[in-house]
Amino acid sequence: MNWTLARRADRLNPSTIREILKLSERPGIISLAGGLPAAEAFPVEALRAATALVLAEQPREALQYAASEGYGPLREGVAADLRRQGLTVDAAQVLITTGSQQGLDLVGKVLIDPGSRVAVESPTYLGALQAFAPYEAEFAALEGDDEGPLPEALDGARGARFAYLLPNFQNPSGRCISAARRLALVERAAALGLPIVEDNPYGELWYDEAPPPPLAAAAGDGAVYLGSFSKVLAPGLRLGYLVAPKALYPKLLQAKQAADLHTPGFNQRIVHEVMQTGLLDRHLPQLRERYRAQRDAMHDALTRHLPAGCRWQLPAGGMFFWVELPGGLDAATLLPRAVAAGVAYVPGAAFYDHAPCHATLRLSFVTVAPAQIETGVAALAAVLAQALAEEEQTA
Ligand SMILES: Cc1ncc(COP(=O)(O)O)c(C=O)c1O
Repeated sequence: MNWTLARRADRLNPSTIREILKLSERPGIISLAGGLPAAEAFPVEALRAATALVLAEQPREALQYAASEGYGPLREGVAADLRRQGLTVDAAQVLITTGSQQGLDLVGKVLIDPGSRVAVESPTYLGALQAFAPYEAEFAALEGDDEGPLPEALDGARGARFAYLLPNFQNPSGRCISAARRLALVERAAALGLPIVEDNPYGELWYDEAPPPPLAAAAGDGAVYLGSFSKVLAPGLRLGYLVAPKALYPKLLQAKQAADLHTPGFNQRIVHEVMQTGLLDRHLPQLRERYRAQRDAMHDALTRHLPAGCRWQLPAGGMFFWVELPGGLDAATLLPRAVAAGVAYVPGAAFYDHAPCHATLRLSFVTVAPAQIETGVAALAAVLAQALAEEEQTA
């Protein structure tokens, strides 16, 4: 049979990260590649107890088809939590999604026509580029500095369907947008009539101080806000949510219905039960402490081992270090050598919509313990030093 593919299928590409994850699953490889939360930190006992409770008290409701909007009490809980962060939101605006990744897809489906412009940070989250590209978005990269995208850069995105922004400990760069820059961006976007799609899976993973309020707190109905339970509880639950302005909500809901009817009600009830016990208030401080120690171990290892000329910033939260390499080094070309030396990372080029910077790479500090971080960074440093020496010889 000759299958004729839809045009959008051309824009579906294998995720570089998933391909690398396959490589790094080989025994003996220290993976600093995927952003996999520390499995030892999953609150297994609390989830086991909540699962038993759901099965004992509401087994048939939990196993039945359910509302596309999501489980009512969980939506209430999400709304209450976001109100504490300064958002004006009621539960009717909360749509429970199958991971926030689905939220990105739904936003793409509802807002992007072939040729529509979408403003993105540069670099930005690879999974968002993958979600929006099949809808035939044309990406407009926003220039920025250490404080975040430049407000005046939004002028160049006038007429875009939305600006996709990651204010907290961005994947991949780790950057946190400053409070003043957040307000300036929201003001500029409002003046231009440019909607904002705010993706915030890492906001609770701060290690020095809590980040400023979300963009959506200032943007009101000019923003769609995406959140996730993946990084604070466990990604295998596949539970995320979006908060949409009332005018946009029905279309996102219809897109959700068409995609998967609803997110598993069983998982939603389990998560609601664990939240009811105040688990996050106990769990998050422990998680922050663990990840802070791992972040500091990586910073220390990078400082001691990486060759001169490598540059990075200490991320104030999240999961990643973003390293800029000296000379003409290409992180993608060097990856097989790094894997042969026992360490994997993600080459930075994957995170750009166009004009990639090849001399960048992303390292995750959350997946492996400090001793392995030390070994992995030392192995990476040896590969980089060798490559630099070879460059010098050919120069
Ligand atoms: C910035 C960002 N958004 C969204 C997601 C998707 O997360 P999930 O679908 O697990 O909620 C990720 C996952 O790594 C991410 O880094």
